[in-house]
Amino acid sequence: MKLTKEQENRIEELIREMTLEEKVGQMNLPSISIVGGFNIPFSEMIEMMHDGRLTKEQVSEMMKDSHQDYQEDDIRAGRIGAMMVTDASVVNRLQEIALKESRRGIPLLIGLDVIHGFYSVYPIALAEACSFDEELFEQTAAMAARESRSAGVNWHFAPMLDIARDARWGRCSEGPGEDPYLASVFAAAKIRGLQGNTDSYENYVAACVKHFAGYGACEGGRDYNTTAIPGHLMYNVYLAPFEAAVKSGAVTAMAAFNDLNGTPCTVNRKLLRETLKERFGMNGFVVSDANAIRECVVHGAAENDADAGIKAVTAGMDMDMNTAIYLDHLAQAVNEGKVGMDIVDDAVRRILRVKMWLGLFDDPYIKAETVERYKALPDENRALTRRAAEESIVLLKNDNDILPLKPGQKISLVGALADMPADTVGAWAASFRKEDLVSVRQGFENGGAEFKYFACGEPEEELNYDEIQEACAYGDVIVAVVGEKTAMSGEASSRSDITLPGEQRKLLEELSACGKPVVAVLMNGRALALGWEAENIPAVVEAWHLGIETGNAVYSILSGRVMPQGKLSVSIPRVTGQCPVYYNHPNTGRPASRSKFTSKYIDLPNGALYPFGYGLTYTSFEYAGFEATVGDDAVTCTVTVKNTGSRKGTETVQFYSRDVAASIVRPVKELKAFKKVQLDPGEEAAVSVSIGLDRLGFYDNDGEYRLEDGTFLFYAGGDSENCLSAEKYIAF
Ligand code: BGC
Repeated sequence: MKLTKEQENRIEELIREMTLEEKVGQMNLPSISIVGGFNIPFSEMIEMMHDGRLTKEQVSEMMKDSHQDYQEDDIRAGRIGAMMVTDASVVNRLQEIALKESRRGIPLLIGLDVIHGFYSVYPIALAEACSFDEELFEQTAAMAARESRSAGVNWHFAPMLDIARDARWGRCSEGPGEDPYLASVFAAAKIRGLQGNTDSYENYVAACVKHFAGYGACEGGRDYNTTAIPGHLMYNVYLAPFEAAVKSGAVTAMAAFNDLNGTPCTVNRKLLRETLKERFGMNGFVVSDANAIRECVVHGAAENDADAGIKAVTAGMDMDMNTAIYLDHLAQAVNEGKVGMDIVDDAVRRILRVKMWLGLFDDPYIKAETVERYKALPDENRALTRRAAEESIVLLKNDNDILPLKPGQKISLVGALADMPADTVGAWAASFRKEDLVSVRQGFENGGAEFKYFACGEPEEELNYDEIQEACAYGDVIVAVVGEKTAMSGEASSRSDITLPGEQRKLLEELSACGKPVVAVLMNGRALALGWEAENIPAVVEAWHLGIETGNAVYSILSGRVMPQGKLSVSIPRVTGQCPVYYNHPNTGRPASRSKFTSKYIDLPNGALYPFGYGLTYTSFEYAGFEATVGDDAVTCTVTVKNTGSRKGTETVQFYSRDVAASIVRPVKELKAFKKVQLDPGEEAAVSVSIGLDRLGFYDNDGEYRLEDGTFLFYAGGDSENCLSAEKYIAF
């Protein structure tokens, strides 16, 4: 984020003029408050819903007579720096109050969780990462930036960059998977997409990378749980995508809820001030997660609210989301000398910079024609959303070439999820319009499939056996859509058993029993444990939660109009008890072998059911002639890939390395590069990448980067397990 000298001067002038209270106001992002209908704060209502004191239905009933209180008097009084609103006319009114009626005329940041699209909801990040398509990552982010800005939202609480290796954690869905390199490519591209096109204020927003840091390592995959991460893993794995995002220009970050090695991230100076701001050089600001400053008291890391506020601001937390602790306690803490004015000024300077960079001081208003532009979804946005959905689908299994579906085949489309569009769109999608959603059933209709639909019971309820019989009788082939509803992944949706929920496995069993070929289309927000399905169902398609174009994308892949090309961004386990399972683990002194006394389970083979990077298509590829050549600055890896099947297809060629012996045990494989290649039947191509020697090092426990001479293995392949290899000695 670069500002002109003039802009920097204007910020300094403001800081000189502002009262302490006004400064603290800038550091406040209040909780949404609702008026009418009931008289409890919104945050408490959410809590009551969470702990079961209120049902969803009761809440909807209460909400009928209520409306959001936009806290206009507080904006006027300069007590609010940012808000969460999604309505252009409201935003215009609030910005006008902030600019014209508050003493300093400082505009508002308007934040929202735009995690995978605004109107054009595209696949969840875990799915989109399976496209291994850097350009796509950038384009979808740019689309989300423009759409949301047309509704007044200028700050995205995204991208979510938590490396997640334990699929029990519900928030796996929000991030780009288990691998730090793929996640870093994703991170940098998302920042370019959200922030890169600064030609017009309508084109960009401020990104907020989250959750800083280590949230994905929550013990047992239980949301909000404690994390213990040694330095080398922190730097090499969990921080890597954040560093890439900051290098790509990310202007804000959100601290994570969890405690990291004993200190909640919210009050973790080493993380916020020393790593994010000083080491990575982020010159924007850090916001807390919702309510997180108060939760430091519950963690047992602060005596009371005031103490939590002092600890947070000292650690480098610039903005308080939802608790009003800064508003209530910070000025007093400064007056009593417990917090230096320089700390407050630094926070305010960072916040004002972002506002200035977004152009909000010049023109924070949304034009009527901009709102109009998105009254209906632009065709190109729908097309991009569809492409993203198609590229995200991963073909896991396809015995006897059941797929693609054959022309003239009668299809029994089974499963309630096939007809529940809003339930398969994925977590954190709220701004889509109902009429834009395409269910799988609708997609089959749009595609002209010859099919009949049979729900056969709700996903988590009893099966309808009569309908199962009918489905078995009708089709030449059965397509069963099974998986998780939207609410089964995302925040606060950890699961201790990650097999198909409810009766859905039973449904697959019943369908298989009728002797017709069965295709399982999985819709889910995490890697599911698929041991049974892999053994018993001949064709399995991982469709994740794909957003509004779900149905069209699923049908284009099943029908073969579009070739599948997705590769897994996470390892898929056989059973839940295998979690965490990920390809880039360190070696043990006793790697699994036939000997009993090796690192394994006595009742399960080691390794993922489907490893990271895996994915089939309707043709096949052969790898040969792998070479690694060490040059002065880089290793050049070249492999020949041949399309040995009968259809034109795209393969994502992956290159891995392994540092065989080092002062810290290194992973058995690490992704270093990937490249897509499209080949006609029988065609072959040499695919080559260059891996800088400086990328063959690693961080030690103190965060020092080390390049150590020694033997390295290089690999090339179509997934993280099946690779060709070459050994080289490298002296740096
Ligand atoms: C989530 C964040 C989100 C915030 C604001 C929290 O509960 O952890 O990811 O940005 O709410 O909606």
